[in-house]
Amino acid sequence: MSTANTAKLKEQFDAGLETRADFTIDQPTERYGAVDHAVWQQLYARQTALLKGRVCDEFLAGVDCIGMPHDRVPSFDEINAKLTPATGWQIVAVPGLVPDQVFFEHLANRRFPVTWWMRRPDQLDYLQEPDCFHDLFGHVPLLINPVFADYMHAYGRAALAANDAGALPLLARLYWYTVEFGLIRDAASPNGVKIYGAGIVSSKGETLYSQQSAAPNRLGFDLERVMRTRYRIDTFQKTYFVIDDFAQLFGVAQTDFAPLLAKLATEPAFAAGDVLEQDRVITHGSQEGWQADGDI
Ligand SMILES: [Fe+2]
Repeated sequence: MSTANTAKLKEQFDAGLETRADFTIDQPTERYGAVDHAVWQQLYARQTALLKGRVCDEFLAGVDCIGMPHDRVPSFDEINAKLTPATGWQIVAVPGLVPDQVFFEHLANRRFPVTWWMRRPDQLDYLQEPDCFHDLFGHVPLLINPVFADYMHAYGRAALAANDAGALPLLARLYWYTVEFGLIRDAASPNGVKIYGAGIVSSKGETLYSQQSAAPNRLGFDLERVMRTRYRIDTFQKTYFVIDDFAQLFGVAQTDFAPLLAKLATEPAFAAGDVLEQDRVITHGSQEGWQADGDI
């Protein structure tokens, strides 16, 4: 999500974009060229075809509701014209990753920072940092869902408080295992799960892997368990946490995080691939292809 990447920011400053104190810019729509629009079109077509039957219904409903264009990079204003009246959220353009505190302040005010630039044609399958396709196609459809919208808002406020309390890693794990890499129960689907996390829905490889591979663990979501679990940023996840439904996230949004953070402050973290006795195990991963180290 939001480690400052000064090289990318510097590149944008050098390009003459005026960045405000909250790291937002006006979306420089005039800078998109034919290649950017073609990359959007290709990724949009590929992911929407792949996601049919694999992503949760709420995501597809969000794509429809927002009316995201399939053949060009969307204008953020046109997205907001649909999004803001529905749930009070708006997207704001940023040059790239922004500092944690800035990112959470945006979320706590129902603003979702979206990277303005598009990846190159040789980066369709993998990109180290989020681009416009990941941020917009991956994250924004669920922001028009009222329950998920409230969860993201509550998350932003909790993360600000956690940052002040020096407990950010606990909240970072929650974001990772829900907003980015969350799965949701669906009895009729392979391994009993569908997808909702943005890091999965914007990735061809992880869409297939997270739902169908025998390698990863798929465990029932438990808030404390998730907040204590390290994760991977360099490979597919070793473990996915599976919510029963979005109502479960609504419950998380009601949590009083201060006592929970205090309680967990002294508890050791679990490795990304651990399966514990108390876990609700949906699939116990074969561990094929797992690397031994590198958990964050
Ligand atoms: Fe993301």
